[in-house]
Amino acid sequence: HRPSASDPWRPAVHLTAEKNWLNDPNGLVYHDGTYHAFYQYNPRGNSWGNMSWGHSTSKDLVHWEQQPVAMEASPQEEIFSGSIVMDKNNASGLGTAQNPPMVALYTSAYGKNGALPQGSQAQSVAFSVDNGSTWQKYKGNPVLNLAPTNNNFRDPKITWYEPGRYWVMTTVVADAQVVKMFKSTDLLHWDFLSDFSGVGAQGGLWEVPELVQMDVEDSTAKKWVMLLSINPGGIAGGSGMQYFVGEFDGTRFTAENAAPADAPLTESQWLDHGADYYAANSISGAPGGKPVLLGWMGNWDYAQHVPTTPWRGSMAIPRELTLVRGQKRLELRSAIAGVAREALERSSEVKSKNLTVGPEAQDLGADFASRTQLIELEMDLTSAREAGILLRRSADGSASLRISYNKEKRTVRVDRSKAGTSNFSEKFSPYHEVALPSSGSDGKVRLRILLDSSSVEVFAQDGAAVISDTFFPDWDNTGSSVFSMDGNTDFTVQSRAL
Ligand code: FRU
Repeated sequence: HRPSASDPWRPAVHLTAEKNWLNDPNGLVYHDGTYHAFYQYNPRGNSWGNMSWGHSTSKDLVHWEQQPVAMEASPQEEIFSGSIVMDKNNASGLGTAQNPPMVALYTSAYGKNGALPQGSQAQSVAFSVDNGSTWQKYKGNPVLNLAPTNNNFRDPKITWYEPGRYWVMTTVVADAQVVKMFKSTDLLHWDFLSDFSGVGAQGGLWEVPELVQMDVEDSTAKKWVMLLSINPGGIAGGSGMQYFVGEFDGTRFTAENAAPADAPLTESQWLDHGADYYAANSISGAPGGKPVLLGWMGNWDYAQHVPTTPWRGSMAIPRELTLVRGQKRLELRSAIAGVAREALERSSEVKSKNLTVGPEAQDLGADFASRTQLIELEMDLTSAREAGILLRRSADGSASLRISYNKEKRTVRVDRSKAGTSNFSEKFSPYHEVALPSSGSDGKVRLRILLDSSSVEVFAQDGAAVISDTFFPDWDNTGSSVFSMDGNTDFTVQSRAL
């Protein structure tokens, strides 16, 4: 797929379904040279409903091929979010030693005449013995239920815990703001381990948790990181993702330096400061040693109303996480995943420009007029207070997406308020801002900007902060310019058209 005048907001380098609604990524797994993304999908419409697992595959995390729907909703059961692991030793017995199964844990959301009362949610198993092409449900479903029943018990994500040689499942009781952990050696029988709760943002449902083990950069230490989505109550309004760094002893996860539950939102640690990054999980078995995350580029505040058709919803660019020692505590850095970055960088030649900008904004010209670009922006605000770039600018300058850095506040801001259509929802927030932990040691500000036809992802200072936002510009607006306020700024701009 490519964006075109008749499908102007179709992403060029992000996963979308050919048609119809999608939300959370599910069952992300790398197997035999192929990345599989399953996702919350409505096979019969362009809004949330009939929740099923769609399926797409990719070799490079940028170009995706849509596959047949993997598991389809029935009146008895919708298939909510979950995860997949390769059961290499066939511990589940659902495959054979020669042909071990892929095993999915998913949430059964029961309808009329389901295995459990209508409205309740429990965890179920499905498996594939043909590399993820077709899926069968396990006969003993559900495999995990909260007695007597619970209507918000969901989102199983599986992690291997090597010291204990068992699987750990994180789930949520979403409306109680609790992560519940369980363990299993066969993926079918699950025993309760512990609850994690009482810290971080509490303003909405807790959803799609995940526990990942990570190396601390430049040290031999390892830590566990809990990724957690919250809706509403995210840092940019509506849906957002926070994380906690800590220890996991095989039973209990303890967060270090986590903001208390009543602290201001800004004291929590957020994976992304934009409005459109949610429900991200890591790809099980991804090569490279670092977690590679795929997230949904949407926000429940307005995702159902965005003006795209015949499809609605897309994924963010896959991201690689690094855990580093920050000024006060351990922090995550996000970068475009290596495989994806190589694929993006292969696409076209680099155009570059050096310029010093004063009070007059400067147009970047035809080399920077693509609707889809990977941009490296370096700014030295020598005497300026604020500087930045305008993208998808209209000829008369009245419309554009504005990305700026404020030297006094040390904040990066993405302003989409004049970037295109926004009247589909009052909750489509106008701008998002994040304070950078530090400017470069050379005083320069570096932004890597992935501009697609209806989204922007801004990675600031080597991924110390990220802002991901959707926006819906007019097809004709393709201009780019740079500006500097109250003084001069030296710019280096490099761009690849995508
Ligand atoms: C998160 C979520 C999950 C649920 C799924 C339903 O966006 O609400 O908690 O499993 O979406 O589509």
